[in-house]
Amino acid sequence: MSSANKLIIFDTTLRDGEQSPGATMTKAEKLRIAKILEKMRVDVIEAGFAIASQGDFEAVKAIAETIKDSTVCSLSRALDKDIERAAEALQNANSSRIHTFIATSPIHMKYKLQMEPELVIEQAVRAVKKARNYTNDVEFSCEDAGRSEIDFLCRIIEAAINAGATTINIPDTVGYAIPQQFGETIHTLLNRIPNADKAIFSVHCHNDLGLAVANSLSAVMNGARQVECTINGLGERAGNASLEEVVMAVRTRKDLFNVETGIDATHIVPASRLVSTITGFPVQPNKAIVGANAFAHESGIHQDGVLKHRETYEIMRAQDVGWHANSIVLGKHSGRNAFRTRLEELGIQMETETALNDTFARFKELADKKHEIFDEDLQALVSDSLSANTEERYKLVCMSVCSETGVRPVAKVTLLSDGQELSATAEGSGPVDATFKAIEELVKSGVNLQLYSVNNITSGTDAQGEVTVRVERGGRIVNGLGADTDIVIASAKAYLHALNLILTGSEKQHPQSNV
Ligand code: KIV
Ligand code: ZN
Repeated sequence: MSSANKLIIFDTTLRDGEQSPGATMTKAEKLRIAKILEKMRVDVIEAGFAIASQGDFEAVKAIAETIKDSTVCSLSRALDKDIERAAEALQNANSSRIHTFIATSPIHMKYKLQMEPELVIEQAVRAVKKARNYTNDVEFSCEDAGRSEIDFLCRIIEAAINAGATTINIPDTVGYAIPQQFGETIHTLLNRIPNADKAIFSVHCHNDLGLAVANSLSAVMNGARQVECTINGLGERAGNASLEEVVMAVRTRKDLFNVETGIDATHIVPASRLVSTITGFPVQPNKAIVGANAFAHESGIHQDGVLKHRETYEIMRAQDVGWHANSIVLGKHSGRNAFRTRLEELGIQMETETALNDTFARFKELADKKHEIFDEDLQALVSDSLSANTEERYKLVCMSVCSETGVRPVAKVTLLSDGQELSATAEGSGPVDATFKAIEELVKSGVNLQLYSVNNITSGTDAQGEVTVRVERGGRIVNGLGADTDIVIASAKAYLHALNLILTGSEKQHPQSNV
């Protein structure tokens, strides 16, 4: 594949994806996702916004130190302190990129930046030059390019390339663009900017009108050679272009797109599951590529056609994107080595022997309740162990729930806090409601419950239930996760996980906040 035909896949699940309300991830969770992205052969992993918080800095640093085959990138505003922090986090990376940005639309320059356009160009040039002191791989983004004036874009991009930017990103920050028009913008920029051939042109589309993937593909048809995207289309507001859709569109329609990605698509479904489990954002069943129904044929005519000749109704093969029939991987007699090996095959490496032993003990407990353990169970088990390792102000010791027809359910919960056991009993409209009320009686967190959802991880009534709880306090939103074969216990674990995150977490800065 010549470099002109290579489409660079830049994944921003860990940065823009994390900007989805409630999608906050811990360092360990981000590392798990980064490892599967590396296995998938993503070219660039945007690991975070290093200056946003100490937690973000540490996550970018850990990913930079661990990932060897993908370029690791940190976002930074066009400010010296941001660029210095990004460089510090990336200093041990095999291959690093600094991604710096400033807004270029009239509305952003006037109201958000309160800066004259000439000063915006000056600041962009200064930022790119500064970033080039740390790495030869510098990306410059014109925030809100989708609503920027073309003449101004041409001027600032030409200056940024002269200053040393190697990638120029054109974000449709507010999801305003329409495919044909967005493609024409890319075409015009590539043709009018005299030094355009010195940089790769990239796009970063948001999905406010449901057009992020279509806009990205139109840009590719017009010469863009990097697409910024996220697993499951996660991202700020309605999300970003979904990686799996972009990758499979250019691959399935090779006849139209004269480009190839280096992605190993067989990791797409496991990556989608992992991101969904970690963030607590379920994947809708009819979501392209990764939804549970994406390859299911309901109507008799379709089934008949597919059985006679698969291509009558299928344009892709399920196994090419990582769908496989549930395979029983382990059972109650499996030993620690088999357990560790299977985790490694799934791209999961426990950080310490203690963490491995703890997860293995949980696996044995699960295997006693459930005979067949699937890969999905293992993923949930690891997520559950990592949730339980969040700095815990409150830990579940035991609980009981009484639920009878015609009687209001009652829950008794015992928690450990500061070495002391505390118990409370509460009634509720259902067993989960009673449990949350009993917990609240002890913790008095005052959070607002925004979302409660239960998914069964595999099929069957003995399956583990995976519960996501989203809570909000003072504008801060977090997701808690819990898994158990008993969904009331899974709910209590998820609620406590969310409360522990709210009680111990620190604030972080949003990248698009005023500079
Ligand atoms: O949407 C956007 O404009 C961004 C930039 C920071 C690239 O996320
Ligand atoms: Zn964005």
